[in-house]
Amino acid sequence: MNNPALLSIENVRKGFPKADGSELLVLDGVNLQLADGQIVGLLGRSGSGKSTLLRLIAGLSTPSAGSITYLGKPVDGPAEGIAMVFQSFAIFPWLTVLENVALGLEAQGLPKAEIRKLSLAAIDMIGLDGFESAYPRELSGGMRQRVGFARALVVHPNILLMDEPFSALDVLTAETLRTDFLDLWSEGRMQIKGVILVTHNIEEAALMCDRILVFGSNPGRILSDIEVTLPQPRNRLDPAFRELVERIYVEMTAKRFPAIAESGREERFPGLGIGSVFPEVSSNLMAGLIETVAAAPYLGKADLPEIASDLTMEIDELFPVAEMLQMMRFAEVEGGDIKLTEAGMVFASAAVDERKALFSRQLLGHVPLAGHIRRVLDERASHRAPKRRFTDEMEDFMDEEAAEHTLRAIIGLARYAEAFAYDDEKEVFSLENPT
Ligand SMILES: Nc1ncnc2c1ncn2[C@@H]1O[C@H](COP(=O)(O)OP(=O)(O)O)[C@@H](O)[C@H]1O
Ligand SMILES: [Mg+2]
Repeated sequence: MNNPALLSIENVRKGFPKADGSELLVLDGVNLQLADGQIVGLLGRSGSGKSTLLRLIAGLSTPSAGSITYLGKPVDGPAEGIAMVFQSFAIFPWLTVLENVALGLEAQGLPKAEIRKLSLAAIDMIGLDGFESAYPRELSGGMRQRVGFARALVVHPNILLMDEPFSALDVLTAETLRTDFLDLWSEGRMQIKGVILVTHNIEEAALMCDRILVFGSNPGRILSDIEVTLPQPRNRLDPAFRELVERIYVEMTAKRFPAIAESGREERFPGLGIGSVFPEVSSNLMAGLIETVAAAPYLGKADLPEIASDLTMEIDELFPVAEMLQMMRFAEVEGGDIKLTEAGMVFASAAVDERKALFSRQLLGHVPLAGHIRRVLDERASHRAPKRRFTDEMEDFMDEEAAEHTLRAIIGLARYAEAFAYDDEKEVFSLENPT
């Protein structure tokens, strides 16, 4: 191919300076080529750097290293030909629909009549015909998001960047807008050459994308690249579609949940064993997931996509819970499945007190930080220790914020398990029932 790629991202790295002078590395070694005619999905959990990458591509921010080129030229500021749709309705309440859409053209210095003509055409195309002089407050969420689309499309961009454009909408509205968008795309009516869609919704990626890049966190990077060959329009119930969804889950879990057997404790919990950052997960959700997987029809082993749809949980909610269950050895996650361990099965059928005791045992036995806190409390005559006693140690491995979150996560679980107590006001740990 002699033509330069529509968009080429090479070895991009992005860090932000932190208050303490160190760097928060958000993206590292990111490579991506966008080909003509493709919708590429960036799929990953919240905080994995997806929006940051989109902002770099849009020229709203600059990479710390690496390069981004659009049609062979480096992106060094907002590029003409690249437009963006945001998650929230970035529209002005005091402007009409027409005025909001026309804003997209402001920078181009076109004659008034031309601006009006182009804006009306974009409004018409996106299904807002008749609402030109309406104000945003008179519109539903779906209609407001259409205004966001119209404002991006009015400039006839080559590349459309979409940052979770459907995630603030209710399920039905989101589906209608997706379908309308795909229709316009297939018919070539938007005259867009390529789309990058950021999403944390697996099915949305499967429904819309020709290629799906699975993003991992800390720092954000591409873990897998999945080519999707299913023709459009796709049907969520089609077995081939379900297979694709399953495959994405398998990819995501394979990378996120190293099997217990192959990852020794030392490797996952380096140093004092308190070097790992935990997701904040409620014990209620953990118990709920254990119960669901233990019950019929799953009886101890379930397909993550099925569970997610059963519990209407998005991956952002489901994965941390599954992760914590795996960490505490209540379950194993492998190949897109979650399987309860013996401890998990016992927990499911246990009474409240038994559950707490078992939870405490798993927590103290398998989560090094929890075990460490408990040992310190056991050893001290007062059975008390200030929070700083632990955060100081933890900050050798992680920054202050991560330490805070991780400690919060452990405190929440320890409270449920009655493994130890924590006084929020005094910031002091103590034994629940010192003997
Ligand atoms: N301007 C910024 N300054 C400092 N940190 C930032 C900035 N923008 C994003 N981050 C951090 O980068 C990480 C990734 O954020 P983001 O790109 O929004 O993730 P995602 O879109 O995948 O949820 C987060 O930890 C966020 O706090
Ligand atoms: Mg984001």
